[in-house]
Amino acid sequence: MISAMKRVVILSVLAACAAACSTPRQAERTPVPDDINASFLAEDADVDRFAARWELESREVYAAREEILEAIGLQEGDAVADLGCGTGLYLEPFANAVGKDGKLYAVDISPKFVYHVRERAREAGLDQVEMVLSNERSAELPAQSVDTLYLCDVYHHFEYHEDMLRSIRNAVRPGGQFIVVDFERIPGVSREWLLGHVRAGKDVVRSEIEAAGFEFVEEVEIDGFEENYFLRFRRP
Ligand SMILES: C[S@@+](CC[C@H](N)C(=O)[O-])C[C@H]1O[C@@H](n2cnc3c(N)ncnc32)[C@H](O)[C@@H]1O
Repeated sequence: MISAMKRVVILSVLAACAAACSTPRQAERTPVPDDINASFLAEDADVDRFAARWELESREVYAAREEILEAIGLQEGDAVADLGCGTGLYLEPFANAVGKDGKLYAVDISPKFVYHVRERAREAGLDQVEMVLSNERSAELPAQSVDTLYLCDVYHHFEYHEDMLRSIRNAVRPGGQFIVVDFERIPGVSREWLLGHVRAGKDVVRSEIEAAGFEFVEEVEIDGFEENYFLRFRRP
C-alpha cells in the first residue's frame, strides 16, 4: 500500500514532468554562424570595445535613435523590454520615456553586458531599470510583463529563434507591440559581410514572427536608414 503522502509526492512529480515535456523545444539550432555570440559571452569580453563600436554616430541605429524612439511611441508608465540590450545604447532614452512609474527590462545573454548596463543605470539613478540575464532559448521575462518588446540588431543573433519567439510572445501583453530593427539582407545589394552574418532577409523574418503568433502592423520608414528596417507587430 502506498501512503497518502507518497501518492501526493508521486502525483506532483508526474505533473511536473508532464508540464516540462509539454513545453515545445526547437530541436535543431537555427543556422546562424557558429560563433555569432561567442565574443559577447567570453569571460574576457571587452565591453568598452563593443560600446565604442555600437554607440557612435556612423552606426545607423545610433544616429537615428531619436527617430526610432518616436516611432516606438513609448508612454509614461509603460513597461518595455530591450532584449539584447548590448552595452546600453537605449538605456537612457527608454528609461526616460517610461519615467519613474514605468519599467525598463534591459535583457542580454552576456553577463558582462548585463553587469555593465546595471552599473550605468545605477550611476544614472534609473531605478525603473531591471536587468535580466537571458539565455539562448528564453528571454527570461515574466509572462505578460511588457507593453513593448524591442529588438535592435538582435534577431539575426538568435540561435533558437522559435524558442525565443515563443518566450517573447509570452512576455508581451495582449495588444502589446513587438518591434524588430534589423539589417536588410538583399543578395547582390547588401555588403558581403552582411550576407554572411545575417541569415535571413526581411520577408523571412516577418513570416517567422507571424508564424509565432504575432500580427504584422506596419513597416516604418526611418529617414536615417539605408541598411536597416523597422517592423512593428502586435500580440493579439
Ligand atoms: C549586435 S548586438 C546589438 C546590441 C544592442 N541591441 C545595440 O543595438 O547596440 C547583439 C546583442 O544581442 C545579444 N543576444 C544574442 N542572442 C540573444 C538572446 N537569445 N537573448 C538576448 N540577447 C541576445 C548579444 O549578447 C548582443 O548584446
